Amino acid sequence: MPFSAGIIPFLASVSAGIPPFLAATLRRRTYAPGRRLRRVGALAAVAVAGLPLRIVGQTPAWDSPAVAQRVEALLAQMTLADKVGQLNQISLGDLTGPGAPLPAQGDLIARGGVGAIFNVTRAPSINAYQREAVVAAPRHIPLLFGQDVIHGFRTLFPIPLGLSATWDPTLVEATARFAAREAARRGIRWTFSPMVDIARDPRWGRMAEGAGEDPYLGSMLARAYVRGYQGSDLADSTSVLACAKHFVGYGAAEGGREYNTTEISERTLREVYLAPFQAAVEAGAGTIMSAFNALDGVPASANRFTLTTVLRDEWGFRGLVDSDWTSVRELMLHGIADDEATAARKAFLAGVDVDMQSGLYAAHLADLVRSGDVPVARLDEAVRRVLRLKFALGLFEHPYVDEAAAAAATVNADGIALARRAAEASCVLLENRPTRASVPASLLPLADHAVRRIALIGPLADSAEDMLGSWPGLADAVDVVTLRQALADRAAHTGFRLDYTQGTGVAGTSEAGFAAAIAAARAADVVVLALGETGRSSGEAASRAHLDLPGNQEALLEAVVAAGRPVVLIVFSGRPLALNWASAHVQALVFAWFPGLQAGPALTRLLFGDAAPSGRLTVTVPRSVGQIPLYYNALNTGRPRQDPIGFGRRAPDAYYVTGYIDEPVTPLYPFGAGLTYTSFRYGAVSVQPAQLSAAAIQAGQAHFTVAAEVRNTGARPGVETVQLYLRWRGTSVARPVHELKGWRKVALAPGEGRRVEFTLGRDELAFWNLAMRHAVEPGSLSFWIAPDSASGQPGAAAVTP
Ligand code: BGC
Repeated sequence: MPFSAGIIPFLASVSAGIPPFLAATLRRRTYAPGRRLRRVGALAAVAVAGLPLRIVGQTPAWDSPAVAQRVEALLAQMTLADKVGQLNQISLGDLTGPGAPLPAQGDLIARGGVGAIFNVTRAPSINAYQREAVVAAPRHIPLLFGQDVIHGFRTLFPIPLGLSATWDPTLVEATARFAAREAARRGIRWTFSPMVDIARDPRWGRMAEGAGEDPYLGSMLARAYVRGYQGSDLADSTSVLACAKHFVGYGAAEGGREYNTTEISERTLREVYLAPFQAAVEAGAGTIMSAFNALDGVPASANRFTLTTVLRDEWGFRGLVDSDWTSVRELMLHGIADDEATAARKAFLAGVDVDMQSGLYAAHLADLVRSGDVPVARLDEAVRRVLRLKFALGLFEHPYVDEAAAAAATVNADGIALARRAAEASCVLLENRPTRASVPASLLPLADHAVRRIALIGPLADSAEDMLGSWPGLADAVDVVTLRQALADRAAHTGFRLDYTQGTGVAGTSEAGFAAAIAAARAADVVVLALGETGRSSGEAASRAHLDLPGNQEALLEAVVAAGRPVVLIVFSGRPLALNWASAHVQALVFAWFPGLQAGPALTRLLFGDAAPSGRLTVTVPRSVGQIPLYYNALNTGRPRQDPIGFGRRAPDAYYVTGYIDEPVTPLYPFGAGLTYTSFRYGAVSVQPAQLSAAAIQAGQAHFTVAAEVRNTGARPGVETVQLYLRWRGTSVARPVHELKGWRKVALAPGEGRRVEFTLGRDELAFWNLAMRHAVEPGSLSFWIAPDSASGQPGAAAVTP
């Protein structure tokens, strides 16, 4: 069924009359609107059969009537060429120095042929290009400067996958705000972030750039990034436009192969892949980037269903859609256009407003309008979207950037403090065993042990460059404090001895360094091993077919463990690695992702217990590549390995159940997992009331309250990430075995207990049902309050019609 088929029966059924629990659904979800959101129209969603369809409208503050007037006045003066120019975005470099001649594109800018520029990062270059547009070009429309500011600009924070592991939207928002300020100070008012692609396949290198596998967590973090980048007012000179990318389904690349084709059912598209984009739109994101992948045979950059039916008609998005880098031209390679003009026409009419780097709109759009292939009204609408944002950003009033202020900006103490806090919060502790059976204390924190000598081994212990990950922005590796530097600093102050040896390279093949590593390990009280991938082994065009340690690092690991000393393994990577042997043989295991500028200090504080780990996995860690895709919110199948409803088949010995004959079906570590330096006990889950009607929930008049007591049973204070999952049964379509629908970070003193409560109503309980409507259905519900997606005992409730 083509995607568009879903909406038509729906519209028909609204007027035909349908049961109330199935009825209301194109309603925009009413997540607490951000400060900049205001409601317009305030038309209630249609929940009753027979009424005409109305959609609740929410409009971001940047879409104001005052701006609209200015847009119309300017548009009325623009020629066809002026209009096409606004839809042309090109990548240019910085100028070589003051007074340096502009490149050939300078002329094009002066003729009004360019609307936006990216990859210019220095204020004097930005001002030089801007002068061409504002002074020389016929309509004096300022350029919009964009850049991939992904996890920091000059001050680099952990990669987005690491930031997601904080499960802390406030912290994520703070990093985005900081990055926005740094970028805006240089004149960059548009970032191509956040990447909100759901990724269920760690082979796909771009998993590093997103928030992991879960649409609920991904939606919360999408909002946080948008709030952080755009601030409370786009006109504020520290605000930058957000761009939620890549719309849509890019993360489902078959085989995890970069840029590959995707096949996603409409239900999964809506439930999983579209959800974080909708959240970004609701948070007021000004721009969306169309993706490279083909979706059900239709390239995402020419996909009218996603770009127009969903984005514009259903969600009411009023910002602009930018293509990805040459994705308009790539329509020819996909095979849906034999010439440039057709590629431009298909992308434009599907809903791509701005052409990034293909040059095809610049070359063909005017002719397409003249020939009538592209209606002029459509062109005007796209130009309005661009102008609206330029006015809202205040670019007409303040097109230039203060060069002196930009030059004076450096990495400062506030940025370093935030980078360290974010790096600490992003690390996930997955194992923490006692050093040996006779010693009860776990290896970490090291402060609990008399540590006189530490061996620091591994190719990532002192590699500043790699700590920056795959989108280093304008960060400078000299600002990175590596693990070696931070441990050496601590050793100098506290008197333990640090022996550092690299052992091997990240992709090493020589074992020449092994002997020194083994000798250092034997002489030490504790070994800290820093292994993993290079910073550039994930990100764009960095898919991997293997999920092990590259080169001969596994051999180094096993040789060092054989030396018999307790080992802390710190893994630096842009994806989860399938470290089966390590997980069983090291005393402590930390996934550190790529932590950014403060990698060393953050990890050192965690190792010694100045700070406690609080990160949780936002991706499932598989045991082997063969298990992929492996994600926690999967369907049960008719032959599950676990049989919670008790049809008699019993895992794990049963045959004819889902799984493999040569690998468990369970992950190495489940979504949500992560330890800290204390322990917690979860009490029974209570659900109030035991029963509610679907109609009442749907109408926003009823909700469940789900609660459990969580107690710190250890000897240290700790922060627990208490997670709420649910499962539906008896519904029109099969639902996942677990779905995250809430979490709380709870700080508890030793011995302290607290009741942790969640409220679940329409937003948490509606799903895309058999009729492809987002509705609450009757059925039975299980709720877990648990430390991860694979533990706990559920409480139950029922939903009646
Ligand atoms: C990437 C985008 C990025 C763009 C501009 C593309 O190759 O897919 O994520 O924003 O380049 O640099």
